Amino acid sequence: MRVTSKVPGKCILFGEHAVVYGFPSISMAIPLNSTCIVEENKLNSIELNFKTINKKYEGSNLVDIEQKIPSNYSQFILGLNSLGNKFDIEIKDIRIELSSDIIPNAGLGSSASTSIALISAVSEFYGLNLKKADIFNFALEMEKITHGNPSGIDHTTCLYGNILFYQKGKPFHIVYPPDDFQVLITYTNQEHDTKEVISNVKRLKDEKSHLFDSIVDKIGFYTEIAELELVSGNYEEVGKLMNFNQDLLSQLNVSNETIDKINEIALKNGAYGSKLTGAGLGGCVITLGEEKELKKIAKIFKSQGYWNFLTTQDKNGAIATK
Ligand code: MEV
Repeated sequence: MRVTSKVPGKCILFGEHAVVYGFPSISMAIPLNSTCIVEENKLNSIELNFKTINKKYEGSNLVDIEQKIPSNYSQFILGLNSLGNKFDIEIKDIRIELSSDIIPNAGLGSSASTSIALISAVSEFYGLNLKKADIFNFALEMEKITHGNPSGIDHTTCLYGNILFYQKGKPFHIVYPPDDFQVLITYTNQEHDTKEVISNVKRLKDEKSHLFDSIVDKIGFYTEIAELELVSGNYEEVGKLMNFNQDLLSQLNVSNETIDKINEIALKNGAYGSKLTGAGLGGCVITLGEEKELKKIAKIFKSQGYWNFLTTQDKNGAIATK
């Protein structure tokens, strides 16, 4: 038997960081995918193959593999162990191959997407019949290793696809704009460390709580208005709100020179709005505008060495099939 799962990445349109503290956010699943293939292994061992980085780990059991694997991949072992313990199954004699189109550590949900791909495929392989809410719990647990205090927005978006209005601890809902508008996603060529950026923001909260509260409060306010503008198809207004959000993210000290430069070029060339997406201090920028303008801006970024991707939302979310 062979199971394949396919899980999208994500970008955050509004509300990163504030969402960690209970404020609303809007995210969008994007069609860059992580894929996990699980099949029987006739060699009586476990093989864990991270195809994207061309690294393969083999062992007679999970403990064996855990000793060989670098610590930044230990979240995958934790996920497999939790799954095995919860359902009382011994995970053995299988080949797991994980790959992803998503740039790692760039704010596009690579960690959430690969974790969900793994849990979805392995649980389908063992016929565990997990619901999306169960997969969410396993994958979020895995994320705590790399991330510290995840809000759950990345996992929810990668699992369910679409554009989501998400607030921690509350039911999320899908946002339906009148059409599939496009966004341009541009990589700053700088990896970020999400855990570190989140702890910098937490320090600001601890040291300057009044300032912090007023910033995240405004982010939450703009996010709520942004939802109304999105469903009305007022993309020019949505763009303005993105610029306000970017300004507030700068005040949280999560922007940097490259992000500011990319935003400036985008706005100078006719974009409605442009902001960092995800944790910031590197990673990616998202830009909203008319398709013609976005294509022009994409060319400029490409000529300056910035990888970019013009896209609309992914509507499928996570899928695992036999
Ligand atoms: C990361 O994609 C978004 C952050 O808000 C962290 C989180 O919500 O878990 C920075």
